[in-house]
Amino acid sequence: MFEVLSNETLAPNLHRMTVRAPRIASARQAGQFVIVRSEKGEERIPLTIGDADVEAGTITLFIQALGAGTQKIVSRQPGEFLRDVAGPLGMPTDIEKWGKVACIGGGVGTAVLFPMAKALADLGNEVTTIIGGRSKPYIILADELAEFSSHVQITTDDGSFGQQGFVTTALQALIDDPERRPEAVFAVGPVPMMRAISELTRPYGIKTLVSLNPIMIDGTGMCGGCRVQIGDEVKFACVDGPEFDAHQVDFNSLMDRLTTYREQEQHCRLDDQL
Ligand code: NAD
Ligand code: FES
Repeated sequence: MFEVLSNETLAPNLHRMTVRAPRIASARQAGQFVIVRSEKGEERIPLTIGDADVEAGTITLFIQALGAGTQKIVSRQPGEFLRDVAGPLGMPTDIEKWGKVACIGGGVGTAVLFPMAKALADLGNEVTTIIGGRSKPYIILADELAEFSSHVQITTDDGSFGQQGFVTTALQALIDDPERRPEAVFAVGPVPMMRAISELTRPYGIKTLVSLNPIMIDGTGMCGGCRVQIGDEVKFACVDGPEFDAHQVDFNSLMDRLTTYREQEQHCRLDDQL
């Protein structure tokens, strides 16, 4: 059992939760995740480890509460417990000294980006961060990312905060500026965003890494639920990823697999409301 120490709402449907998990806190590396179950028999939810405090023995999780399983997790209040927190799982982010890097977070993907950006900055990279959201309340972690980014650029779809437009508009401007063009791009967010970034950087030959979020079940490479097509190989995001070379990812098949259970998920939500 894992004690919840804090639970706050960061943006609509997005919670930041601190959980006591000392062994995971000391073993985890940037880019890794845990699989969480609120109670026995409940859905297993993969969640990126957003941050960890080794001395306090805690990890920070960011949870977008849209489905039945995630809503049960965020219903836990400080002092209450989560049944399972298994991890750390997945491969750590490939952190190298690239020089100038662009870290791009779309909506809730910004939470997954946070530990990657921090690890890149810690290694001495010059990090430009671009955060996109549909409107001002959906822009998260701007102050936290500003602590180690050389520049934070914000975009909103409706122009209610920062520059109006998608993150790709801001990335194009960065690439067009010879003084600021990144050597590598790290992007996390909705699949259409990651696909658009991949297409944007491809003609420039800029190394681009994306963090994929296919459906996961066991998280240990056994069930095949998280398979993704990378170039001419099938990979399992839970053990081979979740980060992959964007220019090799088959985003169409990822999108198809992500929508496979949409109807069942909708039924679960309705059942829970009855
Ligand atoms: P959203 O749809 O509000 O989009 C966030 C931002 O992404 C937009 O403001 C825009 O700047 C950019 N964007 C979206 N579509 C784009 C496009 N076609 N071209 C260029 N830029 C685009 O995001 P949200 O609702 O916060 O995200 C929800 C989705 O993100 C869910 O599908 C969820 O599964 C996924 N997600 C992915 C990860 C991951 O690890 N990749 C993590 C968490 C959530
Ligand atoms: Fe089962 Fe990856 S979640 S193989």
